[in-house]
Amino acid sequence: MTQSNTRKAVIIGCGLVGATSAFSLMESGLFSEIALVDVNRERAEGEALDIGHGTPFYGPVEIYAGGYDDLIDADIAIITAGTAQKPGESRLDLVQRNVAILKSILVEFSRRPFDGILIMVSNPVDVLTYVAAKITGLPRSRVMGTGTMLDSARFKSILAAHLHLDARNVHARIIGEHGDSEFPVWSMANVSGIPLSECLRNAGIDEAEKLMERVEHEVRTSAGRIISKKGATYYGIAASVKRLCEAIVRDEKSVMTVSTVLEGEYGLSDVALSIVSVIGAEGIDSHLPAPISEDEHRRLRESADALKAVIAELSL
Ligand code: LAC
Repeated sequence: MTQSNTRKAVIIGCGLVGATSAFSLMESGLFSEIALVDVNRERAEGEALDIGHGTPFYGPVEIYAGGYDDLIDADIAIITAGTAQKPGESRLDLVQRNVAILKSILVEFSRRPFDGILIMVSNPVDVLTYVAAKITGLPRSRVMGTGTMLDSARFKSILAAHLHLDARNVHARIIGEHGDSEFPVWSMANVSGIPLSECLRNAGIDEAEKLMERVEHEVRTSAGRIISKKGATYYGIAASVKRLCEAIVRDEKSVMTVSTVLEGEYGLSDVALSIVSVIGAEGIDSHLPAPISEDEHRRLRESADALKAVIAELSL
């Protein structure tokens, strides 16, 4: 983080995800400046004006259409630029288009001194997080992707609905790829320390196995369902971006599942995917050794293999 009394975020990409993230960051009061960068400058200017007109209801934040030079004194850079999934498309289907877009962004990015933290949001976010870390050469602690943060939030909210509880008290995580090979760490799921299985029983849910399968499927297919109904997702991911920025700006040391380049964790390297990480002012502080089962370890390896196969096809 740059040492000054201003806190600046740069959002690269002002589509639905970028603009909604900008609105969420404006509401949060986390930043004194938010620069919007887009290949379509008119669009960046329009979003800046529209969001900026809301500041009297929230608090002072300078929000404007900027450029890559705004990275020089930025604390956090957020990349949302890229094409979004269409109905029936997987996130990995976007890889060729979005790696090309990211590479063009990183050419400009790498021409500026940047000592902040880079957050990848565009999909496939794990592959793009790996590409961004590789090309920028930034320390891996300062390059992360939103990863399975949103999947974990979906997981908590769906379980909480079944248990009639506040989702904030449901501690349950999705790890691996932010995509079709993601999976829940059921062995860690609990409600304020009470094993989930006890809570399901207490809620009168007898066929817990069947419910767990249904919930896992519902989480994994959430984005596709939303896209088929409204064309895109952007509110949930914008809330994830805001929460991640909050943990960084406030140096919270919060525990989140973000996409990170692995260097031996769970025996995996040369791939980015989501594991349980501690987030603070310097980015990824550390990873927590989540005790996953043998079957969960197998699924994590499968997630990594799927992503590595895609990375292998890229000319990095
Ligand atoms: C979703 C997008 C952000 O899961 O991948 O909604």
